[in-house]
Amino acid sequence: MRLEQILFSQGFGTRRECAALIAAGHAEVAGCIVDDPDHDVDTAGLVFAVDGQLWPYAERALVLLHKPAGYECSQKPRHHPSVLSLLPAPLRRRGVQPVGRLDEDTTGALLLTDDGALIHRLTSPKRHVAKVYEVTLKHPLDAALVQRLVDGVVLDDGPAPVRAAACEATGERTLRLTLTEGKYHQVKRMVAAAGNRVETLHRSAFGPLQLGDLEPGRWRWVDATQLEAPAGV
Ligand code: URA
Repeated sequence: MRLEQILFSQGFGTRRECAALIAAGHAEVAGCIVDDPDHDVDTAGLVFAVDGQLWPYAERALVLLHKPAGYECSQKPRHHPSVLSLLPAPLRRRGVQPVGRLDEDTTGALLLTDDGALIHRLTSPKRHVAKVYEVTLKHPLDAALVQRLVDGVVLDDGPAPVRAAACEATGERTLRLTLTEGKYHQVKRMVAAAGNRVETLHRSAFGPLQLGDLEPGRWRWVDATQLEAPAGV
């Protein structure tokens, strides 16, 4: 593929801007500056650099962000900056979007992609992607609360009870809750319906993807094949 086309497809600007970037010596392939926009490059396994920063060539962008509190997932945020502001310009230009949403005050694993079909698949209720939440509660918990969340609680948009796929107490006021749906404010509403209140909420895993040691506000590339690992519960 022509280098200009590669930079264009990866979000580095218009075709004309990409050609100008390359001609001005900002792009490197295999450690060498390439200043010919028409230079033909094999995209298989390609890692190129722009202004010294490395970029893997990805037909579709797929990244995992550690969302900090104080950011909105909406495209048109109203009170706080958008999570998209935490990503570099080429990813934003490619039109990456969050896969589902986390509340403004929720932290943790947020997947973003420019692959609309993948967003659709991963958010489909049929797919049952397991999402793991670490919950801090206002009041001390007891075994009955855990049981209620596993047995199912009725939410205001009921009537069918909504169940946690898994739930375990991790401390006096902390829970680990696994959900396979993604209803609006689901954890907060379930915990309220079970008689307690969420103080803080953190998503530690989305399907097979764990946050691991990714710092708040940082992101990393994800290989789509990683999502093929068993995701349901
Ligand atoms: N459930 C909630 O209540 N909030 C989130 O951000 C995610 C799940």
